[in-house]
Amino acid sequence: LPVHPTSLVIFGGLGDLAKRKLLPALYNLAHEGALPERFHLVGTSRSEMTDEEFRKEAAEAIREHSRREPDETVLEALLADVRWVAGTFDSASVYEGIAKVLGEFDEGAGALTLNRAFYLSTAPDFFPVIVEQLGAHGLHELPDEGEVRIIIEKPFGTTLASAIDLNQKVLSVFSEQQVFRIDHYLGKETVQNMLAFRFANRMFEPVWNRDHIQSVQITASEDIGIGSRAGYYDQAGALRDLVQNHMMQLLCLLCMEPPIDLGADEVRNEKVKVLKAIRPPAPDEVDQMAVRAQYAKGSAGGEDVPGYLDEADVPADSNTETYAALRLHVQNWRWAGVPFYLRTGKRLARKVTEIAVTLKPVPHVAFGGSDPAHPTTLMPNQLVLTMQPNEGVSLSLGAKIPGTRMRIRPVQMDFQYGTAFVSQSPEAYERLIMDAMRGDATLFTRNDEAEAQWRIMDPIVSTWEETPGPLPQYEAGSQGPAEAASLLRDVDTWRRI
Ligand code: BG6
Repeated sequence: LPVHPTSLVIFGGLGDLAKRKLLPALYNLAHEGALPERFHLVGTSRSEMTDEEFRKEAAEAIREHSRREPDETVLEALLADVRWVAGTFDSASVYEGIAKVLGEFDEGAGALTLNRAFYLSTAPDFFPVIVEQLGAHGLHELPDEGEVRIIIEKPFGTTLASAIDLNQKVLSVFSEQQVFRIDHYLGKETVQNMLAFRFANRMFEPVWNRDHIQSVQITASEDIGIGSRAGYYDQAGALRDLVQNHMMQLLCLLCMEPPIDLGADEVRNEKVKVLKAIRPPAPDEVDQMAVRAQYAKGSAGGEDVPGYLDEADVPADSNTETYAALRLHVQNWRWAGVPFYLRTGKRLARKVTEIAVTLKPVPHVAFGGSDPAHPTTLMPNQLVLTMQPNEGVSLSLGAKIPGTRMRIRPVQMDFQYGTAFVSQSPEAYERLIMDAMRGDATLFTRNDEAEAQWRIMDPIVSTWEETPGPLPQYEAGSQGPAEAASLLRDVDTWRRI
């Protein structure tokens, strides 16, 4: 799909996300010549500032955070005609200001129609009022053929009820085709590679089911703490911050049926079916299916670091989890009986996002029968898809150890992005901003999908909220809480982080 000439308005135009991700992504797109020839950028927030000041701050942010040293000519061209509109998001003047600026851009474009995209990169409390005001000022549609799109950052709701409510508000102004709910994991190359891996190769599909797969383990661990985000994080916790969105997306891509094509509805229909097949735990099952914990003091990167409760702006009696682990079941023909273990946490041993698929043992071990002193135990095949940091796929196979006896041990077959491809991967936000401007929603969360994700999380969230702490602790820099082992079935063990 071509990228149509577009005016992009970023709410929270110099916020943390805009500075670290959105503006650098726009720069990289400009650098690669991927932006449409006519592209206009407008920033808005409460901060009073001139267009010139916005230009300067945006340039600074790009210089600081872009994945490449910016070419000053490209940077200047990108920011030559940026505009800033100041005001609170509930005041009419902001929307009048935006309408005026967009009108000027339209005039400058002559006969060409400019599409419009509104990017909501603000605290989530502002989403409803911005949507309402855009509608009230007629900014949600264009009279002729131009398209208007709205891009909404996470978190999309904090419970099922709030997600439903937010969807209703958004969809009372915009149609679903206009809405692009961000989950930046879907913009990651290696996450998209799961589609390639599963559906471009013949060899995995026949074993991709309950007959051959023993268990699946999805890990999204981080070594960082909560940094300066206590205000947000202490309200959210690990389950809302990472499981409800990013980890559910990984689970869906892993489990979904082959789509007819990569059309937005085809892919999202299949993902929603997976979410619907996961039965939310009943309140009295939460303890057997979910574990939460908080990091205690320990060390990270060789330095002593404080525990969660001692972090700045975290209440000393906070019950917010910085670690969450779950055992889920996808109850359909393909997956019935296969446990899916999910875990995420801050201040764990290292940053890694991976999916490990463990296959069932072979039905009969034909080796080692003649020598009881050396019984043969075979390790099951394990396929590991690593999203980050060492992007790639590895498969463990049993192989004969050279020698006169028949002894088997696991060896690895590896594919690594870094060695197989020379080109640098684009950042997630580059792909997502382009797709939103193209109108391709395949890599965005649909309304029913967001709600289906919350339906699974809701009983866990509410049971945890109602159960007083203190929470189990794990040492910063460790493998996580010992309690997580209680979720595992049979011979399964947590992989080393
Ligand atoms: C964000 C969470 O959505 O994802 C953060 O709010 C988390 O808490 C981040 O650190 C992880 O993203 P990535 O791309 O670094 O894996």
